[in-house]
Amino acid sequence: MRTLAIVNQKGGCGKTTTVVNLAGALAAEARVLVVDMDPQAHATLALGFDPEALEENLYEVLVEPVGSSGAGRLAEVIVPWNDSLHLAPSGIVLSALEQKLTGDRAERRTERLEAALATVRDDYDFVLIDCPPNVGVLTFNALRAAREVVVPLEPSDFAIHGVQKLLETIALLSDRIGHEVTVRILPTLFDGRTRYARETLAEIRSLFEDLCFDTVIRSNIKLREAARRGQPIGSFARTANGTLDYAALALEISLAGPTPQLGDEPMEGRSGPEREVVVRYCDPGATDVRIAGDFNGWVPDKDVRSLVRAEGPERVWTKILTLPPGTYHYRYVVDGEWKEDPDNPNAVPGPVGGRNSVLVVS
Ligand SMILES: Nc1ncnc2c1ncn2[C@@H]1O[C@H](COP(=O)(O)OP(=O)(O)OP(=O)(O)O)[C@@H](O)[C@H]1O
Ligand SMILES: [Mg+2]
Repeated sequence: MRTLAIVNQKGGCGKTTTVVNLAGALAAEARVLVVDMDPQAHATLALGFDPEALEENLYEVLVEPVGSSGAGRLAEVIVPWNDSLHLAPSGIVLSALEQKLTGDRAERRTERLEAALATVRDDYDFVLIDCPPNVGVLTFNALRAAREVVVPLEPSDFAIHGVQKLLETIALLSDRIGHEVTVRILPTLFDGRTRYARETLAEIRSLFEDLCFDTVIRSNIKLREAARRGQPIGSFARTANGTLDYAALALEISLAGPTPQLGDEPMEGRSGPEREVVVRYCDPGATDVRIAGDFNGWVPDKDVRSLVRAEGPERVWTKILTLPPGTYHYRYVVDGEWKEDPDNPNAVPGPVGGRNSVLVVS
């Protein structure tokens, strides 16, 4: 089970839209739980449920101390959207949680969602947590429960400033709770017709480099329509930009594979002194070629040295990896498109379609 928290203290940057529509895209292939940690209950509404009409919600689960029967109640409050997409709903009462828990030690207050999710860990492949636009007890619960954080960021100067502060907060917190959290930035609400948006996106890419997803979520009115209908966009507008963008994000996240969890065994057979491994990609038409694999968490060109040069009409990208002996899976990202290595006959089917090339370091 991979648990992702969608976090940004800035309001209206696309957190809920990302949770609901990414969930819809992932649910085509996987079992997905949406956890609505926002008392505004927007994710609950966007999946077509009326928070007022639901008898129980996450409050009932989170108000009980860790170790009591509270955590086990999560399965009872979950409602199905369809077979593979479920929701742990919110309600306005969740805003009372902070007050209710003031007597507890800080540690105890923020462990509750993590304990509850542990009780359903065999039932889901992905958990997506929607957070409120502030960093209070609800967001801390989400950060503690998640190993991966997605920060939606609309291209604006104030928003970039706010995210830099947020990254510092997350780093401090993950230090305190002793687990690694991978943070990725997701550009949202992008309107490529304006020069300001294009320039700000370029700035986001240069500031956050590998932390930034390749996928960009474009502004698309159909996403608003989807929320009004109580449906993820893919279920009614199959060719809309919003559907394509969230499908691309689902693919990028699925390819990235799970972040190692505490207590995971190291990958078998990957030990010994590190070696330099050189791979080459030739393509006269490409302008940007990166490599991603299980050696760098599927983050394109992370921990990779790159050289590009022209050889006659060809352009050749040389990628230098430093790896201990073992077997690795990888793909190239050629102008944003994920491809197997055309020069490597050794490939295996990927978890979400396509093929991953196999690299053996002896
Ligand atoms: N890519 C997009 N294209 C068009 N409209 C969008 C897009 N993303 C979000 N919106 C709209 O912008 C508004 C804010 O988005 P959303 O509710 O997802 O943000 P949020 O970060 O969850 O806000 P809050 O902080 O209040 O929870 C909504 O009306 C939503 O429908
Ligand atoms: Mg929201």
